[in-house]
Amino acid sequence: MSEGAAKKEEKPRKFQAIRGTRDLLPPETALWNRVEQTAHEVFATFGFGEIRLPIFEQTELFARSIGLDTDVVSKEMYSFPDSFDLIDTFGKFRDVTTELGIDLRDRAKFDANAKEITKQVFEESMVTLRPEATASACRAYIEHNMQQLPQPVKLYYMGPMFRRERPQKGRYRQFYQIGAEVLGGSDAPGIDAEVIEMVMAFFDRLELQGVQLDINSIGCRNCRPKYVELLRAAILKVKDKLGPDSQRRIETNPLRVLDSKLESEQPIIATLPRIADHLCEECAAHYAAVKHQLEMRGVIYRENWRLVRGLDYYMRTTFEITAQGLGSQNAVCGGGRYDGLVELLGGPPTKGIGFAIGEDRLILSLQESGKGPAQQGRDVYIAWMGERAQATAIRAAKDLRKAGFSVELPPVEQKFGKALGQADKLGAKYALILGDNEVSEGLWTLKTLADGSQAKFTELDLLDHLRKSKRVSS
Ligand code: HAM
Repeated sequence: MSEGAAKKEEKPRKFQAIRGTRDLLPPETALWNRVEQTAHEVFATFGFGEIRLPIFEQTELFARSIGLDTDVVSKEMYSFPDSFDLIDTFGKFRDVTTELGIDLRDRAKFDANAKEITKQVFEESMVTLRPEATASACRAYIEHNMQQLPQPVKLYYMGPMFRRERPQKGRYRQFYQIGAEVLGGSDAPGIDAEVIEMVMAFFDRLELQGVQLDINSIGCRNCRPKYVELLRAAILKVKDKLGPDSQRRIETNPLRVLDSKLESEQPIIATLPRIADHLCEECAAHYAAVKHQLEMRGVIYRENWRLVRGLDYYMRTTFEITAQGLGSQNAVCGGGRYDGLVELLGGPPTKGIGFAIGEDRLILSLQESGKGPAQQGRDVYIAWMGERAQATAIRAAKDLRKAGFSVELPPVEQKFGKALGQADKLGAKYALILGDNEVSEGLWTLKTLADGSQAKFTELDLLDHLRKSKRVSS
């Protein structure tokens, strides 16, 4: 290898964030903080308390709640064996193959059962980065005996979720959700309506633009299976006109055919039977009451019979909210009722309803409509020169920060011209000029950068002046 080539190789490798993940940088993070702060405030006014859930859980929890045939579980989860003790794994491997009656010398038989063997060997130690948090909230409800608390229990959460999807605008592999769940108590339609009212109130506080709420009822264990069969039969009749994705779903989950965005399938889907015409009496009454309750709260909705949602745990009420500026990934919130999920996870029969907001999309939409924060400016840039001035500058910075002002204190001496240029670049409102004269006179010069005006203040007056001008501008 030539010397040049060796040098080239030595250059340290540059790292990049993994596809589908990204860094959130200032000043954008200020908007994230504002959104999250608003969620804390609004949700508290509805009596919700924050729950902080683990980022990873046993794979089985998600598989059982969300459903094996869903896209999330079948393709998108980040799962891995948590403990990998070679000897332990080897022992399990031996037990499983013996139990399945597989002779390891029989390669063909081993290959044919490889998936099942792997599943059984790793089943208990498999963990998954959470793709959503409803399952975790239900797990926590059971684990902490929350059914003994006054019902319903109202919880909310925020944080990262993980799904191995094809990244695009508004779709990431690590994304953030703000969600809420109401667990226990009754399934009174007033609860469904209040949960929806809360998320709409939150969007309203944030001045999110172009908000559109779609609602539907997808029935219950009694009426949905009959409708699904009816739908399957109807889709089979038009199978040849559908694309491969929809064709595949006829068997796995025909409801998902209704989700299709494929242009060519739209006229065909429009002719399919609608669930609203096949709800049982109880579900029909519940749906009618939810609509009435929404109207009582002044919540504007649109009925969308094709809104079925992609996770298996839903029943009855489902809803989705879209907002402007998001392109094809325009669902900013999805939710619905999931009575029975807690029971499915080994808990007592429990009603449940909730939603999750895609925070990344919410932020995108706010930015598109000009609600993003401006560059985070400083209140005061301290331009100092001389050793005595530095001591004063340090003290001034401390006092100003204590009073809540954002202060930039250069760590080394700068000529005043350069310092003022720097203050300008940082978008500072004021430059506090501290040189030998100022320090010995006890009169500090404050320059307003917008108009270049200057005034002298004593230390005490300065704080007063800044406080007053902050009050005027806010
Ligand atoms: P979901 O519809 O799967 O529902 O997700 C809710 C929201 O999360 C979506 O509307 C979207 O805004 C956002 N989202 C989902 N995947 C991505 C992604 N890859 N990139 C960016 N944003 C994404 C649930 O997760 C349910 N747990 C909601 C729920 C709570 N239902 C009842 N309680």
